[in-house]
Amino acid sequence: MGQHNSRGGARIISQKEVARGYREIRLEYLDGAGPDRIPEPGSFFTFLPAGHPLQTMRRPFAYSAADEKGFSFIYEIRGDATSDLAERPDGAVLDWIGPLGRSFPMPQNRRRPVLVAGGIGIGPMYYLTCRLSADSGSGGEPLVIVGARTAALVPELEWPDGAEVVITTDDGTRGRPGTVLSALEAEVSEGGLSRAEFYSCGPHPMMAAVHRLALATGAPCWTSMEEMMACGVGACQGCAVELAEQGADGGAAYQRACVEGPVFSSRELAW
Ligand code: FES
Repeated sequence: MGQHNSRGGARIISQKEVARGYREIRLEYLDGAGPDRIPEPGSFFTFLPAGHPLQTMRRPFAYSAADEKGFSFIYEIRGDATSDLAERPDGAVLDWIGPLGRSFPMPQNRRRPVLVAGGIGIGPMYYLTCRLSADSGSGGEPLVIVGARTAALVPELEWPDGAEVVITTDDGTRGRPGTVLSALEAEVSEGGLSRAEFYSCGPHPMMAAVHRLALATGAPCWTSMEEMMACGVGACQGCAVELAEQGADGGAAYQRACVEGPVFSSRELAW
């Protein structure tokens, strides 16, 4: 949860497509020199895209796995930086700064973790699932609900034993037809979420719906805000998210997703 971060290089070990237009990439630290702590689920790093001489903006990505040797992340090929990344061969080196931002807390009072992922939010939710499944102190097996528009966009990942994974697709081509919200509401009505703690990452309307459900059921809810970040270290104010409480002057109050977030209690935020 600390804000101290490191900088270094990491070599691409492998890249593979996990869904149409989505890749999982694995990197290892150069000479074994990683950050001074293993990045936690929800935290992120930035890297400097290469191949574009005028490109100086670092790009943030949430970890999908991390250990002493290196880390992985999942990205969608969209725009210059990720197209550049997709073309880099194994062995190419990324310049990283990390880990950055606040990570997800573990569930309180043996509540059952319920994770909701959409789009590129799958990376941090996958990492959190792996961590929770390995933690015998958490309140029951994690329930993970993964939503996609269609079957080709459902990421193929090796989910850990001990996690219940529910896939939903808007068009019904895989898993349960409908949205993640309809799957969640079905779980609530079946009585399976009476002591839940929610975690979500994905499109804003999806996270807002999970927040409302958490309010209605009295459950804690943690949200990772996928804001457009430039500096990633708190200097540019480009990632401001509005808070539920007003500032001392009665106007809107904001925090920076890259430093005070990206993980927030959903009740802290204006939706
Ligand atoms: Fe610059 Fe957050 S990205 S302050």
